[in-house]
Amino acid sequence: MEKVRFGIIGCGLMGREFASATARFFHLSGLNFQPEITAVCDVDEGAMRWFQERLPTVKEAVSDYRRLLESRSVDAVYCAVPHNLHEQLYIDVIEAGKNLLGEKPFGIDLAANRKVGEAIARHPRQLVRCVSEMPFFPAAQAIYRWGLEGRFGKVIEVESGLWKSSDLDPKKPINWKRRSETNGEYGCMGDLGFHALHLPLRLGWHPSNVRALLSKIVCERPGGAPGTPGAQTMVPCDTWDNAVLACEVVANEGEFPMLLSTKRIAPGHANTWFIRVIGTELSAEFSTLDPKHIRYLPYKSGDPQAWRIEDCAMPPAYPSITPSNLEFGFSDACLQMWADYSD
Ligand SMILES: NC(=O)c1ccc[n+]([C@@H]2O[C@H](COP(=O)([O-])OP(=O)(O)OC[C@H]3O[C@@H](n4cnc5c(N)ncnc54)[C@H](O)[C@@H]3O)[C@@H](O)[C@H]2O)c1
Repeated sequence: MEKVRFGIIGCGLMGREFASATARFFHLSGLNFQPEITAVCDVDEGAMRWFQERLPTVKEAVSDYRRLLESRSVDAVYCAVPHNLHEQLYIDVIEAGKNLLGEKPFGIDLAANRKVGEAIARHPRQLVRCVSEMPFFPAAQAIYRWGLEGRFGKVIEVESGLWKSSDLDPKKPINWKRRSETNGEYGCMGDLGFHALHLPLRLGWHPSNVRALLSKIVCERPGGAPGTPGAQTMVPCDTWDNAVLACEVVANEGEFPMLLSTKRIAPGHANTWFIRVIGTELSAEFSTLDPKHIRYLPYKSGDPQAWRIEDCAMPPAYPSITPSNLEFGFSDACLQMWADYSD
């Protein structure tokens, strides 16, 4: 079993998710490699302690990321820090000779993103990739496969997006993701845009132009959580809340419009990722609102135009110990049940 030794920089929400996934990696079958977290870095000691208490493989915990980059027991770095730090940290990770799994959006603005891109180009032997997990739902993988196989015929239109809703609450305190200084002026587009673009880009559907409709809906928020001194003061929330982008794509499948929407305020949508591809020979759609179902409409001249809904008992990209006739999410339900019995 080959170990891929990871260092984590940024021990917040996503750092913990990554750690939890590595802790149950044996859930996947037939692999000859395994990630192992050997080092963590955060400016917040308490955030690092969570990892040290749970992961015996963590041998180093440092507050200066440059020390983690010097470690000989780190092959690859998972970096999950605020966007204003992406440029410096991602370039330093790459220049230190480490492989990088970086969180989106790879820089706070276009200039930062270009500098990261230049560092990647200078080090072609290192593996650098950007995180985006929703396309690993089995139905999304099916749509991706159909795209690679050219099954859609001439593409008529594509729509893809990620919608959230917790920002509908005007009392939700400000955080770094709602400030231009730390998130980037592009707001929801930087924060959510890569998820919307992941499958289109993988299928070679690059926007060649864009028209944008952008909204700022809640323009100030409490400066701190209830009970903290900041809670009484309203502070600017200056990033874009919602964006609808209308793009044109020129690809092997023809020229077609692509609508991308990233919304922090889509009432009722906790974290809805969706993609819809409309084509002359096949149309297909999937939304995490309905995670078991893929909807599709195959078409040949003279056929009835009828949408089919299939329970997506398809194997995921990496087979696991969960048989493929059970749904994605079954093992999360098992985890909850085990907790309940143990409790
Ligand atoms: N893939 C996804 O679905 C998803 C979801 C949420 C966030 N993200 C992305 O993940 C990244 C982090 O977001 P998060 O929600 O985990 O944020 P978070 O605020 O929960 O965690 C960020 C961590 O970085 C630490 N940090 C700040 N400055 C640091 C420094 N100089 N050195 C080391 N650590 C430092 C903070 O103390 C904090 O613990 C962002 O790029 C965000 O866009 C991705």
